[in-house]
Amino acid sequence: MRTVYVNGEYLPETEAKVSIFDRAFLMADGVYEVTSVLGGKLIDFDGHAKRLARSLKELDLKAPCTEDELLAIHRELVARNEVTDGLVYLQVTRGSAGDRDFAFPDPETTEPTLVLFTQNKPGLADNPAAKKGIKVISLEDIRWGRRDIKTVQLLYPSMAKMAAKKAGCDDAWFVEDGKVTEGSSNNAYIVKGGKIITRELSTDILHGITRAAVLRCAKEAQMEVEERSFTIEEAKEADEAFVTSASSFVMPVVELDGAKIGTGTPGPVAARLREIYLDESIKAAV
Ligand code: PDD
Repeated sequence: MRTVYVNGEYLPETEAKVSIFDRAFLMADGVYEVTSVLGGKLIDFDGHAKRLARSLKELDLKAPCTEDELLAIHRELVARNEVTDGLVYLQVTRGSAGDRDFAFPDPETTEPTLVLFTQNKPGLADNPAAKKGIKVISLEDIRWGRRDIKTVQLLYPSMAKMAAKKAGCDDAWFVEDGKVTEGSSNNAYIVKGGKIITRELSTDILHGITRAAVLRCAKEAQMEVEERSFTIEEAKEADEAFVTSASSFVMPVVELDGAKIGTGTPGPVAARLREIYLDESIKAAV
């Protein structure tokens, strides 16, 4: 049985409890992070901790502990659950004021809730999907306007995943004002004439930690990067497409709304970036 972490305690998963009045349960008033584990070490931990701090600040949420303490909890859970390859999920909520009220509770008297658990994913970096590529559909982006904050409001991304599955595909790319924002749980890219194109950072998308690392790798490898939005039509005419996230790293996209992208097989740029990113991030893992 898994050991999970709840508010200072390491417990068997069946004994971990959070109040029914917790604001994440009632209002989706919480933020999260997903950090991957490869070879028993945390990938890009610093980036995830920094983004968590930013999400908390943007929502006036109290930090439950320091970054060092967070790192210690991550490591302890990875060790206790003997995770070699997998994910650490972390969630911070505004806690429970013991009743339901739209107004935020007083942070002096209501402590945030901090929950972490691990997911074992043996062979996470050797996901066979990376060799085949994934198929995506496009969907209107009807999420709220602060997608730069990693909140637990994941209903629409879940619905998008279901719509993709129903269409015989793997995931969805969101479109707003005719331009791709991002994938349901990843950042979206196209490659044209050797140039890597991905939407610029704003409140419209999550500032992916993998995105930042992958763009850094691309620049170091002298690959050309252009940060701008693109349309579904442009993506269909691209040579390659891919997505990035902490759980999929760099994942090629080979089909969009039923149209093959490029040759319909994973392209060389995505394959190279995946290799460089995995190499670099494993070296820097903590
Ligand atoms: N999702 N965009 C969205 C909407 C996301 O949910 C995610 C991550 C990303 C990529 O961010 P990063 O590279 O920091 O993982 C972009 C996580 C993995 C999830 O919800 O499981």
